[in-house]
Amino acid sequence: MATIIAPSILSADFAHLADEVKKVTDAGAEYVHVDVMDGSFVPEITIGAGVVKSLREITDAVLDVHLMVEHPETQIESFAKAGADIITFHVEATRHAHRVIQKIHELGCKAGVALNPGTSLSTVEELVEDADMILIMTVNPGYGGQKFIESQLGKIHMLYHMIEEMETECDIEVDGGINEETSVWVRESGANVLVAGSAIYGAEDVARAIKEIRGKEIAHHHHHHDDEYEDEDE
Ligand code: DX5
Ligand code: ZN
Repeated sequence: MATIIAPSILSADFAHLADEVKKVTDAGAEYVHVDVMDGSFVPEITIGAGVVKSLREITDAVLDVHLMVEHPETQIESFAKAGADIITFHVEATRHAHRVIQKIHELGCKAGVALNPGTSLSTVEELVEDADMILIMTVNPGYGGQKFIESQLGKIHMLYHMIEEMETECDIEVDGGINEETSVWVRESGANVLVAGSAIYGAEDVARAIKEIRGKEIAHHHHHHDDEYEDEDE
């Protein structure tokens, strides 16, 4: 599966967002990752639907909206109307995750479900079939520039196999601490949508950073050791 790169504008210069978006899409990024924080689910407040609406007017890239908000069911309509393509909410933020997926689909968007590092994969087992994407957080959400949490690699690999066994289609997105080095690990574990903020916007050569994070295409072998993530390509 081809890797999709989703630069997080959280690390961009908010005074020049249009230029910052163009910079990464010109460099080949397929998605633009928009981190929405409500000051409650996570401490900070960032971007609202109004910003998404303005971004929709200046780019054709896929707008990948990551809602780090309580009660996502109350917010999805405004983000859908603003022009989001994918709306991802946290499974920890609602009692009715399946209904939120249905609502996102009714609004004509793709639905993603995000899991904090401390949240078990079992919480999304019943959602994988209907969700378009599962987002495995590889840092605790709230800030850019944090260190990658290696224990999440096993979770990514288990999710990859869960999706395979269910014979369904579902993207695996990873977010937090993704750089040239960790991108290899997550791609080998089965992730196909890679979010990166500081590693892309902090780079002198953005195109080169995107190319490094994208890496070479990885061939997966499914016939052995299900419980390890270090599948070696033989
Ligand atoms: C974290 C956000 C991420 C963040 C990633 O709460 O969801 O999208 O911007 O930043 P880096 O890539 O710097 O860890
Ligand atoms: Zn994010």
